[in-house]
Amino acid sequence: MNKLEVLHFPDKRLRKIAKSVEKVDQEIKDIIDQMFFTMYEEKGIGLAATQVNIHKRIIVIDVSENKNEKVCLINPKILLLSEDTDSMEEGCLSVPGFYENVTRPKDIKVSTLNYDGKEIMLETDGLLSTCIQHEIDHLNGKLFVDHISTLKRDRIKKKITKLKKEGTLFSRKDIPNYKSVI
Ligand code: NI
Repeated sequence: MNKLEVLHFPDKRLRKIAKSVEKVDQEIKDIIDQMFFTMYEEKGIGLAATQVNIHKRIIVIDVSENKNEKVCLINPKILLLSEDTDSMEEGCLSVPGFYENVTRPKDIKVSTLNYDGKEIMLETDGLLSTCIQHEIDHLNGKLFVDHISTLKRDRIKKKITKLKKEGTLFSRKDIPNYKSVI
């Protein structure tokens, strides 16, 4: 299986709004399989189709320790967000090596199609809730750096652009130890 290329901030293609999937057919399942493969290869815990330049409303997630609990969301709809919030340090495969605290609603209720094209409900909190919200943002052209100050975002943008030019984006010495990248 081929690993898909992950786009990096500030690539404008990350700002596209993904379109709904009309039918969960073999083509869509092939995309999902490739997305899971890419996510595991990149050591991420979540990946939205937008990040691999496929502008369809598809998300893959696995927040389990043993990497054996695949969660796939197609055309997810947020039904409920709690007023209670949670703050978590987030990273992103599209913003490699940068981590910032983001505050989001704690609990979430989502309706979504699964891999078999069946509609299911998901009610969750904690890491999975954060992850789903982060990935749905991607489908809407939004990144976790949009939740932090303009100053911090611009600083990250400058650094990534410079590191990419130098070809050292993935060999930085100051990258923190492995953390959850969504
Ligand atoms: Ni992300």
